[in-house]
Amino acid sequence: MAQHVAEVDAAGLQRALDEPVAAVAAARFRELVARRAGGEPLQYVLGRWAFRSLDLTVDRRVLIPRPETEVLAELALAEGDRLGARRVVDLGTGTGAVALALAVERPDLAVWATDASAEALEVARANLAAVAAERPEADLAARVQLGAGEWFAALPSDLRGRLDVVVSNPPYVAEDEMAELPAEVHDWEPALALVAGDDGLRDIRTILAEAPTWLARPGAVLLEMAPHQVGRAERLARSAGFTATAVLPDLTGRDRILRARI
Ligand SMILES: C[S@@+](CC[C@H](N)C(=O)[O-])C[C@H]1O[C@@H](n2cnc3c(N)ncnc32)[C@H](O)[C@@H]1O
Repeated sequence: MAQHVAEVDAAGLQRALDEPVAAVAAARFRELVARRAGGEPLQYVLGRWAFRSLDLTVDRRVLIPRPETEVLAELALAEGDRLGARRVVDLGTGTGAVALALAVERPDLAVWATDASAEALEVARANLAAVAAERPEADLAARVQLGAGEWFAALPSDLRGRLDVVVSNPPYVAEDEMAELPAEVHDWEPALALVAGDDGLRDIRTILAEAPTWLARPGAVLLEMAPHQVGRAERLARSAGFTATAVLPDLTGRDRILRARI
């Protein structure tokens, strides 16, 4: 928080430690400390957070991008490379983290980023504009489209059967698990980004059931979820017609990502 207020990096803060602090900066720092002491997540207090090479705006309208989702993006990139992908979609984009990372890291991709939350899409739109302005050579304005609506219904119908990769970190917390979440998550992050019905699989079920009609052949889906859900999700993918499935670990080695190929 001190770095943020002083607009310096860690080394700059060390150098500045013996220097007097302007009253306005001290007041701002106290305000941030009070918010943090009140339990607000650091990412919302700062209003920014890093995701892969991106520095994103983050506030209460969106889920805070997590490090494990950086692995989801990495696996989607690898799958896109394997398939020679041209068109990918990030369903439930939140900040736009996954969609923007894919678009920045693969300059030939056309990327769709969707969300059912109009507020989340406002944040994604702001992040798209900021990243596009920082990296004009990436031509993001032409390659990244935002779509409002429920899962695949947010996409233009002419994309049906033409997507190479579908990637999503959907809500996957069961209703009765909500009370067990840490207060920093439960009290601050949007419920729409977290809860997915009685068993937490409601949205994963929908995405896996609808993905085959939107995917080109060959194509693939990558989904983030909780470790206890991967077995059931893998069976759902097989029943939906996916022919090769794999469960892949996150940064801490926990089974968190389903890759399903068709
Ligand atoms: C777990 S958050 C993931 C956000 C972002 N992709 C990330 O990984 O940081 C799930 C996202 O799905 C969106 N969402 C929830 N229900 C949805 C639905 N029925 N259709 C589309 N998006 C939905 C939420 O608004 C939220 O942004």
